[in-house]
Amino acid sequence: MRILAIESSCDETAAAVVDDEIEILSSVVASQLDTHGKYGGVVPELASREHLRAIVPVVRLALDEAHAALETLHAIAVTAGPGLVGSLLVGLTYAKGLAFALSKPLIAVNHIEGHIYAVILESRRKGTPVEFPALALVASGGHTHLFRVEPDGGIALLGRTRDDAAGEAYDKVAKLLGFGYPGGPIIDQLAPFGNGRAVPFTAVRMKGNPLDFSFSGLKTAVLRWTEARDLSGELAARRELLAVHPRPTIEQWRAVTPQATVDMLASFQRTVIDELLRRAALAAGEMGARAVIISGGVASNQGLRAAAAKADLQAPVHFTTRALSTDNAVMIAAAAFGKARRGEYADLGVAPYSTLNRS
Ligand code: KG4
Ligand code: ZN
Repeated sequence: MRILAIESSCDETAAAVVDDEIEILSSVVASQLDTHGKYGGVVPELASREHLRAIVPVVRLALDEAHAALETLHAIAVTAGPGLVGSLLVGLTYAKGLAFALSKPLIAVNHIEGHIYAVILESRRKGTPVEFPALALVASGGHTHLFRVEPDGGIALLGRTRDDAAGEAYDKVAKLLGFGYPGGPIIDQLAPFGNGRAVPFTAVRMKGNPLDFSFSGLKTAVLRWTEARDLSGELAARRELLAVHPRPTIEQWRAVTPQATVDMLASFQRTVIDELLRRAALAAGEMGARAVIISGGVASNQGLRAAAAKADLQAPVHFTTRALSTDNAVMIAAAAFGKARRGEYADLGVAPYSTLNRS
């Protein structure tokens, strides 16, 4: 079974062709980083416009690279949400048009489910398939969720962030300190040069669901840390650097970042990782998970990967390769196969949705 998948929920226009839940024939991702970088975050109106520009060439390239004729496709899969509605509409409308013109079924995929299935697909490719029930931690720019995943595709929410997503916290901290967007990869690369115990950020204590996350307190603690110091010199130096190099290397960032700031970033990262893994371990233990899946943009974090390998997560841990942990369309195809097998097709009236609750 061959599926063409399209993803346009945020700031990446992506298309992929995947065969039989395992063989990635092509994966094309057009990033809009250069468009949004200078604003320190994704600008929804610009994102929709860039998707419109990219969608036709990206899908065409995915089909060409796969040597896949349109007639050979079993179905067209597309992200219906959650995400920016204007961005989602571009991929969804294009997918509907294609499905209608080719008389092929349309499969509407939830973006977060896609992040989970990217790991399931890759674990199968590696010959160490995920066992079920699995605990999935999805941590990205828009989401930080814990799910229980069943072998039949059933997914139940166990916990979620009450405020910022983990990736959002990374991006906001990076923006506050004058680093580029997205902040996650920059902080990830700087952290190994710092002392993660230098700034004693405290773990969040909350009433209610012990599997819920919260990152806004940590973000505020970073803000307080910056307010207590004169950072004007280093902020100016980073502004100048960004003006000259839109995407500086880590050596260039280090040259304009004093050790105290690197230590604070390492401490921030250590706290985020501790929070993520502590709750994942708790959830995995409670549900008797046979595998732990860690996915979403933040799953490409090297510190998180190293810590997860050492942590007692109660079950084997599965990550995707870094290329499949940030947004792509392979993950949308991966989630679509089960739906195709179960005949869960969407009709052409399917609407995009912005939040997880409406999936
Ligand atoms: O999954 P993704 O590509 O898009 C969303 O669905 O949000 O995730 C993007 C997020 C951004 O917030 C980015 O800063 C974060 O993932 N991210 C990272 C790393 N790479 C990307 N966060 C921490 N460490 C990284 N290496
Ligand atoms: Zn994502």
